[in-house]
Amino acid sequence: MAKPTRICCIGAGYVGGPTMAMIALKCPEIIVTVVDLNESRINAWNSETLPIYEPGLFEVVKACRGKNLFFSTDCRYHVAQADIVFVSVNTPTKMSGVGAGKAADLAYWEGAARMIASVSTSSKIIVEKSTVPVKTAEAIGKVLRRNCPHPDVQFEILSNPEFLAEGTAIQDLTNPDRVLIGGKETESGRAAVAALASVYAHWVPAERILCANLWSAELSKLTANAMLAQRISSVNSISALCEATGADVQQVAHALGTDSRIGPKFLNASVGFGGSCFQKDILNLVYICESVGLKRVADYWHSVIQINDYQKHRFVEMVIGSMFNTVSGKKIAILGFAFKKDTGDTRETPAIDVCHGLIADDARLSIYDPQVQQDQIFRDLSMPKFQWDHPMLPNGAQVPFSSREIDRTVSVSSDPYKACAGSHALCVMTEWDEFKALDFDRIFASMSKPAFVFDGRNILDHERLRSIGFIVYALGKPLEPFLQKQ
Ligand code: UDX
Ligand code: UDX
Ligand code: ADP
Repeated sequence: MAKPTRICCIGAGYVGGPTMAMIALKCPEIIVTVVDLNESRINAWNSETLPIYEPGLFEVVKACRGKNLFFSTDCRYHVAQADIVFVSVNTPTKMSGVGAGKAADLAYWEGAARMIASVSTSSKIIVEKSTVPVKTAEAIGKVLRRNCPHPDVQFEILSNPEFLAEGTAIQDLTNPDRVLIGGKETESGRAAVAALASVYAHWVPAERILCANLWSAELSKLTANAMLAQRISSVNSISALCEATGADVQQVAHALGTDSRIGPKFLNASVGFGGSCFQKDILNLVYICESVGLKRVADYWHSVIQINDYQKHRFVEMVIGSMFNTVSGKKIAILGFAFKKDTGDTRETPAIDVCHGLIADDARLSIYDPQVQQDQIFRDLSMPKFQWDHPMLPNGAQVPFSSREIDRTVSVSSDPYKACAGSHALCVMTEWDEFKALDFDRIFASMSKPAFVFDGRNILDHERLRSIGFIVYALGKPLEPFLQKQ
């Protein structure tokens, strides 16, 4: 296949949008078009307000949009024109039927594949960008080959999982630890891998472009996310032990992280991991293991999610327990709703489960997040959750809560000081930098007494807060009984 000049990406989401913008920036001679069925999303990509918040993204988009980067809803036309088609559609967990609650729902993927097959009049490289279960390429290959009316058209399928993290997407794309490309070990497969590698070679050093077989690439992505999530569950499980013994999880994590075999990153204890990938990918891994009869392996990985649910549950218990076993009618300020800082994304954010736990105990919540809009918060809190998803909901909470209940108990504020005023407690759910710079003297003065702080991210200066007069609880930190003994 000749050197690619036209790339089309199906799916203008958190992965497709930033990745294609970076390719367009680094490869000025390649024409990159991102297509999506969702018209308002495409309109937003073409506007001054992008549909996702990601530091540095707007500058990259602005530099290329209208030159070699385009956003369109005309999926069929742009796919037909392309040499390389990235598929970056959503692959949520299946909600019903066989594998419900664990398997990935490939309906969007299959829809995209059928469309590619029906419009293609020239051979194409099809790149799996969204995380998919192992062996998806095989299934997709069948859909493509059997639905394309032109026998001469060849599809070469590659797996090129994206490892970017939200909030740091531009940094991660500019300077990736590695780019992984999996392909068939045939002549045409190797040629396709080389063609895609030549795109990344515009800015990624050759030694960081790793080639693998298709199944290894697909499995690497699932396993990378599972192992990252496992690190968080490991440190979170130790945070519970620290609270029980008077150890400090940050000191423990620091000591662990200096062992070069362990490494310092991704060891921050938290109220739990969230995001669209970790839980979904682990559930997917669990499902795959069960499907091939590896129950022990499935149970091992499932325990990573169980600890994550336990951590959220523990946090709610810590809040309720320390506020004299009742939060009924008390106002609690929730600082942060996104699943991590520097994103407006709330998918699987631990804040949802913590809020549900507190609402179940009849608390009144006042929520502030610098990037999450009020309607998103209300939607998230009234959305049904499934038993398989969260088997350990605090206090036997029955979800979904009705929209009426959410309206009655939750308010959203665009100002952190207003969110905190009159509250009995504030809970930090997201590690936004701006929370560290808040005027806590002012906040303390405006709160009911005793005023509690529950730091679910360990970002605040706890000593200083105590000196102001707050009662402070933080994950994995020596709690009040231990401090009093000191
Ligand atoms: C993750 C992977 O990091 C990325 O490689 C993959 O492509 C997509 O999934 P993302 O979910 O965007 O990225 O963010 P990440 O930084 O991994 O954080 C995931 C969750 O773990 C967040 O809720 C974060 O707050 C939490 N976390 C992370 C911790 O609780 N402690 C840590 O030390 C690190
Ligand atoms: C370990 C710790 O590494 C060391 O820091 C501590 O002080 C004592 O315990 P040790 O047991 O001597 O040291 O050897 P180590 O290299 O850690 O190996 C432990 C076991 O893990 C061995 O059986 C080794 O074969 C196995 N291992 C190690 C693996 O199976 N795979 C690996 O990638 C690494
Ligand atoms: P991710 O976080 O993996 O990028 P998102 O949900 O943010 O996932 O984005 C996936 C996008 O894919 C959505 O905007 C959705 O509208 C789009 N999409 C899904 N199926 C198709 C399809 N068949 N054709 C075009 N776009 C699609």
